Amino acid sequence: MAQADGAADIVFRNARLVDGTGGPSRLGDLALKDDRIAALGDLGDMRAAREIDLAGKVLCPGFIDVHTHDDRALLADPLMTCKVSQGVTTVVTGNCGVSLAPLDISTRPPAPMDLICEEPEGFFADFGDYLGALDRDPPATNALAQVGHASLRVGAMDRLDRAASGTEIKVMRGALEAALEAGAIGLSTGLFYPPASAAPTEEVIELAKALAGYRALHTTHMRDESDHVTESLEETFRIGREAKVPVVISHHKCAGLNNYGRSRETLALIETARGRQPVGLDVYPYVASSTTLDSVRGMQASRVLVAWSKPHPEAAGRDLADVAAEMGLSQTDAVEALLPAGGIFFSMDEEDVRRILSYPHSMIGSDGLPHDVHPHPRLWGTFPRVLGHYGREAGLFSLEEAVRKMTSLSAARFGLKDRGTLREGAYADLVVFDPDTVEDAATFDNPKQPAKGIEMVVVNGRPVWQDRQHTGARPGRTLRRQDLDAPRFEGVA
Ligand code: ZN
Ligand code: CU
Repeated sequence: MAQADGAADIVFRNARLVDGTGGPSRLGDLALKDDRIAALGDLGDMRAAREIDLAGKVLCPGFIDVHTHDDRALLADPLMTCKVSQGVTTVVTGNCGVSLAPLDISTRPPAPMDLICEEPEGFFADFGDYLGALDRDPPATNALAQVGHASLRVGAMDRLDRAASGTEIKVMRGALEAALEAGAIGLSTGLFYPPASAAPTEEVIELAKALAGYRALHTTHMRDESDHVTESLEETFRIGREAKVPVVISHHKCAGLNNYGRSRETLALIETARGRQPVGLDVYPYVASSTTLDSVRGMQASRVLVAWSKPHPEAAGRDLADVAAEMGLSQTDAVEALLPAGGIFFSMDEEDVRRILSYPHSMIGSDGLPHDVHPHPRLWGTFPRVLGHYGREAGLFSLEEAVRKMTSLSAARFGLKDRGTLREGAYADLVVFDPDTVEDAATFDNPKQPAKGIEMVVVNGRPVWQDRQHTGARPGRTLRRQDLDAPRFEGVA
């Protein structure tokens, strides 16, 4: 047992300590002082300003949401209740090619960039200014920020339906390097989406080459997650190999009826690739995806819900089929009438979702869309759903393994220092939850619901969630690339 100097701020007693490594839990106490874990074990003789008897409830590291679109939410709604109420203490922004910085524009950004911000004034020309804004008015969670490829393209190109020229690639690469200097942790792409779908693989490789010198990583919403998912995986691996950077496949899925069951094939390809290069992936625990409504083309969805519509706000939360029938339009024409709009697409096989969730190298990421009127329930439910629905009820994995996929695994991939495991000296990012009752409450009908069973959440030593409400505290920190270790991918020389 280790003793901190002087009294602790909080001692949690009789906790079921789940340390994040995947190893077996044990009963014990944990003390925190200032922003760190001061001691762990049997702390019977330690005094603290506040003592909390957990009576066997779980105490584990705070969850890391590796796939978010919280870029602007961190500034606009810094309490981040949708995330802290799930036990999330750190978020990674700038995914799917879309980031709030660096971009100087004067018109409404093209879809899907409007998912994070509709107003041109909301973007930041300078990446350091964006991070500085987070420092000045900190959110409740820690944040890491990536640069989006679509944001670079919109800033550097007069039209997006073509490959970038050599000069444009130089401009984008300069902007990317400046952002990395300022603290960006990597580059994301969304090659599926119109602002980047005309970009050839070589364009991405040229940009990704900038990452290697900065120990940064590349994440991707791949060009195709349905009929050509294996070709897209090969493209992703090639980008990683040629640019010599780690790659993370975002929200891995096999979308569309044609592709049900193909996660056997895709996970085998990922497993083989892992033997020769650093590859990671994240997944969310639902059979429906969500993005801009125009993506319905090629989505092979069995059912579509409207998440928001600018001209028809009353359509939010309703079935596209019903809205189209009422409008007397085909679904294709109804989509045109509803744009700009967001949708929720039921397009995945339950068995694929389970297989990907169970794969030991899958991290958990919500992909939540915080500005949607009627958001996909993943925004409020992802982490408790993995613990409750897929862990406790479906038995996909042990509690310890579920926690590992949300904590130490994610911390290693993103190079987070002193986060993601419970140990003396680590930052006190913590969650207390009841393993018997933890579950998501957010549903497709009623998506903005705090989860059940999350009893207390602590960020950098300060409680942000307790007694089923936000404490109002905003102790989150902006973590710059310079604050991180190199991304860690085991199994690669
Ligand atoms: Zn995406
Ligand atoms: Cu995303």
